[in-house]
Amino acid sequence: KKADFKSRLLEVNKEAAKYFYVQLKSDRGKPAHDYLTNRQLSEEIIVKFGLGYSNKYSDDLYQYLKQKGYEDNLLKESGLVTIDEAKGANDKFWNRVMFPIMDVNNRVIGFGGRVMGDGMPKYLNSPETKIFDKSRNLYGLNLARISRKNYIILCEGYMDVIALHQAGFNNAVASLGTAFTGLQASLLKRYTDEVFLSYDSDGAGTKAALRAIPILKEAGLTAKVIDMRPYKDPDEFIKALGKEEYEKRIEQAKNSFYFEIEVLEREHDMSDPEEKTKFFNETAQKLLVFKEEIERNIYIEAIARKYNIAFEDLRKLVNKYGSQIV
Ligand code: GTP
Ligand code: MN
Ligand code: MN
Ligand code: MN
Ligand code: MN
Repeated sequence: KKADFKSRLLEVNKEAAKYFYVQLKSDRGKPAHDYLTNRQLSEEIIVKFGLGYSNKYSDDLYQYLKQKGYEDNLLKESGLVTIDEAKGANDKFWNRVMFPIMDVNNRVIGFGGRVMGDGMPKYLNSPETKIFDKSRNLYGLNLARISRKNYIILCEGYMDVIALHQAGFNNAVASLGTAFTGLQASLLKRYTDEVFLSYDSDGAGTKAALRAIPILKEAGLTAKVIDMRPYKDPDEFIKALGKEEYEKRIEQAKNSFYFEIEVLEREHDMSDPEEKTKFFNETAQKLLVFKEEIERNIYIEAIARKYNIAFEDLRKLVNKYGSQIV
C-alpha cells in the first residue's frame, strides 16, 4: 500500500512535468520561453531537460490534476499544491520556469522553479516528500554520460548543468543548492573515482567547495577544483569565453589540497610577518591529513618551494602539531 502511494506520487509529478512542458510551448508560456532563449538555451536542450512553465493563475495545475482524477490528499503530499481551509487549493509554483528533478531512473521526484527576472526567492524547490530526498539525489545525474572522460563535473546550479551539457560537457551534475552530502558522494562513487568541482567563484561557492572536498575524499573520490574566475559560475564562464576555454580550465584544475591552501593564503596578509607565520602554522596543521610520510613530504616540499621557505622548517612545524595529536 505504501509503495503504491509512492508510485502514485511519481505519477502525479510526471503529469505535472508534462503539463509544465506543454505550457512552455503555448502562447501563455511565451515569456518563459523567451527567458530561456535569452539565456541562450537551444530548443534541443530545453527538450532534453524537460523544462517547463508554471502559469500565473493560482490553481491551474491543481484543476488540471484534479480533473485527471488525482485526489486532494495525494496532490497535497506531492508538494505541488497547498490545500488550506481558508485559502482553498493553490499551486506552489506560479509564473516560474520549471526544472523537473529526476532520479537516476528518470523518474520525476521534484521540481525547481525560477522567477523570470529579479523576484524573490530566485529559486523555489519542491519540499521534501516521500519520494524527494534532496540529500540523496543530484540534478542531471540521469543524463550524465561519463564513459568517455571518466570523471564528473560537480556544480551548484540547474543552469550550470544545462549550460555545460549544451556545451558538450554531458558529465555535469549539481547538488541542488543544498550542502553536498555523504550520500551524494556515495552516489557519485558508483559512477566515477574523480570529481571536478566547478562551484561559483564567490565566497559562498568557495566555502561550499571547501566543505565538499573532505566529503568527496571520505567517499574515496579524488577532488579537483576548476577556477571560474573572473566569472561567477560555469554558465557565465561558458557564455563569456566558450567551451574551449572551459576545457582548458578543466586541464588546469587544481589539486584540492592546493586549492585549500590558496584559499587560506587569501585570508592572510602575506606581507605581514605575523600573519604569514599564522598562515604557515595553519598550513602545517592541514598537512596532517596526509597519513603516509611519503605523500606528506611531497606536499610539504611543494608548499615550501611555492612559498620560498626551507623544507625542514615546514616539516618541523608539521611534526610539532603531529606530536600534539598522539
Ligand atoms: P541563475 O541566476 O539562474 O544563473 O542561478 P544560479 O544557479 O547561478 O544561482 P545561484 O548561484 O544563486 O544558486 C545556485 C543554486 O542554489 C541554484 O541553482 C538553486 O538550486 C539554489 N538556489 C539559488 N537561489 C535559491 C533560493 O532563493 N532558494 C532556494 N531554495 N534555492 C536557491
Ligand atoms: Mn551561487
Ligand atoms: Mn551561480
Ligand atoms: Mn548562474
Ligand atoms: Mn588565520
